[in-house]
Amino acid sequence: MNKKIAVIRGDGIGPEIMNEAIKVLNKVGELFGHTFSYTDVDMGGCAIDKYGEPLPDGELKKCLESDSVLLGAVGGDKWNNVAGDKRPEKGLLKLRAGMGVYSNNRPAKIWPQLIDASPLKPSIVEKGIDFIIVRELIGGIYFGEHKTEGSTATDIMCYTKDEIERIGRIGFETARKRGKKLCSVEKSNVLDTSRMWKSVMHELSKEYPDVELTDMLVDNCAMQIVKNPAQFDVIVTENMFGDILSDEASMITGSIGMIPSSSLGDSSLGLYEPIHGSAPDIAGKDIANPIGMILSAAMMLKYSFDMNTEADAIEKAVFDVLEDGYRCADIFPQSSTTCKKVGCIKMGQLIAEKLKK
Ligand code: IPM
Ligand code: MG
Repeated sequence: MNKKIAVIRGDGIGPEIMNEAIKVLNKVGELFGHTFSYTDVDMGGCAIDKYGEPLPDGELKKCLESDSVLLGAVGGDKWNNVAGDKRPEKGLLKLRAGMGVYSNNRPAKIWPQLIDASPLKPSIVEKGIDFIIVRELIGGIYFGEHKTEGSTATDIMCYTKDEIERIGRIGFETARKRGKKLCSVEKSNVLDTSRMWKSVMHELSKEYPDVELTDMLVDNCAMQIVKNPAQFDVIVTENMFGDILSDEASMITGSIGMIPSSSLGDSSLGLYEPIHGSAPDIAGKDIANPIGMILSAAMMLKYSFDMNTEADAIEKAVFDVLEDGYRCADIFPQSSTTCKKVGCIKMGQLIAEKLKK
């Protein structure tokens, strides 16, 4: 197959982790007979420096004309004082909305080799951590009106039934393909949007009698994720709750550097990015962990290109490299005498070399 991929390297560690993902994709292409072509797209701080805005329309257009979009990371201290509507993050929000990718899928899964890297007690981790957060991505408070007038600042959280229903369906469908347990997370004891969220989920559940639906308040969920993560299969939640819970969920798996994500709408055009940020403090030092980025490329192969075997091959290569004891700094166990610490470039190279058909 020939596939056109829009590549957004972005800021901070974005460019270096992207190089490793491309290295791995090119190896997949060689082994399985595919041609991937890459179109560079400027977004984030680098685009602010170049064009004065984080995602010019022409750059967004390149993404919409591709088969899929890969994103490293955007943002950094350098642009902290830029006005709210011109910040690097605003480019990411424009991209998500422009692509219509309302469903963000963030897996929290512990790799058996990284059990020691989890900050949770072994007795909790041993029960297993393997769940997915399905986060609504283009609605809610992120996209409501934002304004500051004198000493009053306002951000509006708004959801329509249709927006809730379409993400709810993704939640149910995802659960149906896994452990058939869906936990809908909201704050219905306080928020109207959450009360509507809850009622739409229960309405939908009539169409999915094979999936067990439970409700959980978001504050309780934050606690349950560290207390007993094994109880979760699929969590479906609104945009900001999903943002916060997915950082928490990633941490219990050892490192945020390991977690990929996919964002999809109604077509196969998807956006794939690691869930971590641009980490400007370690940028350019060859110490970033490229695995979250590489696994995001694997998700792209699976969900946008239907290349399941190829995606599985990447996951297997990552597994094997971890099994061989190679670790980037973020997942390197301090007390280890057997693990080998490697940089970003070496990690990418090891994974590419491990790939097998
Ligand atoms: C994420 C990030 C973004 C978000 C930021 C960079 C706008 O934290 O993808 O989780 O809040 O969605
Ligand atoms: Mg976040």
